[in-house]
Amino acid sequence: MYPFQDDVYAARNQWYIAAFSRDVGREKLLERWILEEPIVFYRTVAGNAVALEGRCAHRHFPLSKSNLQGDNIQCNYHGFTYNAAGACVHIPAQEKIPAACRIKAYSLVERWNWLWIWMGDPVLADESLIPDHKEIGLTDPAYISNVVVYNEVACRHQLLHDNLLDLTHISVLHSATIGNGSDSVASTPETHEEGDNWAASTRIIRNYPCPEVFTSFLGYRGNIDRTITLKFLMPGLHCGMDEFRRPSVGDQPGELLGRLAIYHGVTPGRRHTTHYHFAIARDFAKNEATTEVFNHAMGAVIEEDKVCLTTLEEMLTGLGDRRPREVLAMSDSHQTRARRIFEKLIKNDQAAVRSVPIVPVTN
Ligand code: FES
Ligand SMILES: [Fe+2]
Repeated sequence: MYPFQDDVYAARNQWYIAAFSRDVGREKLLERWILEEPIVFYRTVAGNAVALEGRCAHRHFPLSKSNLQGDNIQCNYHGFTYNAAGACVHIPAQEKIPAACRIKAYSLVERWNWLWIWMGDPVLADESLIPDHKEIGLTDPAYISNVVVYNEVACRHQLLHDNLLDLTHISVLHSATIGNGSDSVASTPETHEEGDNWAASTRIIRNYPCPEVFTSFLGYRGNIDRTITLKFLMPGLHCGMDEFRRPSVGDQPGELLGRLAIYHGVTPGRRHTTHYHFAIARDFAKNEATTEVFNHAMGAVIEEDKVCLTTLEEMLTGLGDRRPREVLAMSDSHQTRARRIFEKLIKNDQAAVRSVPIVPVTN
């Protein structure tokens, strides 16, 4: 699927951000489609988050439209009832419960303010593969971190990755917000680093006017040196670090004004929808009032991306097979290399998933 080969969609044996913790509770069952599978989320009486297949094994009724009974969920059609492990524990019309009457239960791990879900073979669900939250700054005491916004974006997940792998769009798409109405980001060359399952870009913009949106938060108005790094931890988290300094003098870096860490959680939904979890952390102006103003400002930026990508998906869907080849620019180097690593990771995963033998149900 564009921008990859037609049969390349998403890696399954991976952890993805499924939801913010605050969105999963007992008052309302939450349904999310992830990698084209319907999933229902809730919490047990003890408060543990649960992720079950979101359709009843009987006639496929959506379990998100059903009812919690203690830690169990009762289908709202004919009453089949499942426990938090996905086993059917009650069928109103009969005593015996067929062994095949169960639904999938997913491994779910709550870290910081979000829930990570394992979409592949449960045997391979190794929690140590989840990015280290202290290392990426989310639980670093030097920062104040907070949830900003969740959006379901009507585009394939690859388009959001593409967006984050090419920050030259800040100068144009976000010119009215974080772009500062200048081409400073777009015209500054970036450096590229990569590994087997990650790719990072860094650009240092020297001695340019501090974007208006940051001046009050930083308590500084004037020119800055700004280092922007964005590291894509495949398959679903982009971690950014924005560092603001007074302009350097000779070889001496200028005084540090503040650091802003930015997190984009990208999870495939259906083929043409994507779950976008956005969070930030900062080591300056660590008070609630600033968080509120900041979240509002950042929410507006995310909205600009959302509108752009929804429109782009409509264009791609409309063109279908008639889509001409894309034209690449010099600035696409990082994105192109990251795409290559990502596509390889997905292809390897899809090949591994295909090679697992299917065991027939015997009862
Ligand atoms: S569809 Fe769920 S009990 Fe029949
Ligand atoms: Fe953007």
